[in-house]
Amino acid sequence: MAEGGHPSVYVVDSHATFPPVPPRLSQGRRRAGVGQTLLFILMSVALCGMTIEACLIYRLYQTESVTSASVSKIIAEQDATAAKLHSHVISPSKPVAHLTDGQDVVHAKEIMAWSTDAEPRLYEIEYKKSTRSLVIQKEGYYYVYSKVSFTDKDTFHHRVDLHTEKFTGKSINLLKSRKYSNHFKHPEQSNSYLGGVFHFSKGDAIFVKVSNTSKIVRQDPSENVFGAYMI
Ligand SMILES: *[C@@H]1O[C@H](CO)[C@@H](O)[C@H](O)[C@H]1NC(C)=O
Repeated sequence: MAEGGHPSVYVVDSHATFPPVPPRLSQGRRRAGVGQTLLFILMSVALCGMTIEACLIYRLYQTESVTSASVSKIIAEQDATAAKLHSHVISPSKPVAHLTDGQDVVHAKEIMAWSTDAEPRLYEIEYKKSTRSLVIQKEGYYYVYSKVSFTDKDTFHHRVDLHTEKFTGKSINLLKSRKYSNHFKHPEQSNSYLGGVFHFSKGDAIFVKVSNTSKIVRQDPSENVFGAYMI
């Protein structure tokens, strides 16, 4: 037993002959543990760094997009201001009307119609499509003008008439021109321009009348015009 115990003791002794082994092992384990911890810390630091970097990049991108958004907002605001300023600048100080011919125009037999598609210049004067007339909104003195192009081998009349509530049922002639053509010649294209100053009251309606609207030359919208402006 003791004999048998000896070898076991010996074995124990032989084990005991390497006393530094277990500490060495444990030291190695500790070292490995320290290394692992260090690696873990390093990796954590790296990950933290990457996370912070990602956050910074994200913030930078967000700031950039916000900046670009605010820039486009500023541009839009500037455009609106410019448009407002522009419309303010071109807004006349007194009533103005300038009408032209256009594709949408349908003349009456004698009374000329004016385009509403051609964006007529109308400020404090209305264009009434049903009566083909300009309706005064503000009482005062106005310069009235009209120019027409026509071809007629007969006598051609061009006039500007006024329809006022003061003389109901009757229109008053304000301006008139007549062209007497030479019957021996071929009819030639002619022009007529009328202009003059008149006093108008609110609701007064002015319109252009010709002897026959089918004689009007309609090549260009600017060839036939009608307008008025307060002086
Ligand atoms: C107007 O002119 C057209 C074409 O020349 C003619 O057919 C018509 O009879 C004229 N109308 C009047 C009222 O003179």
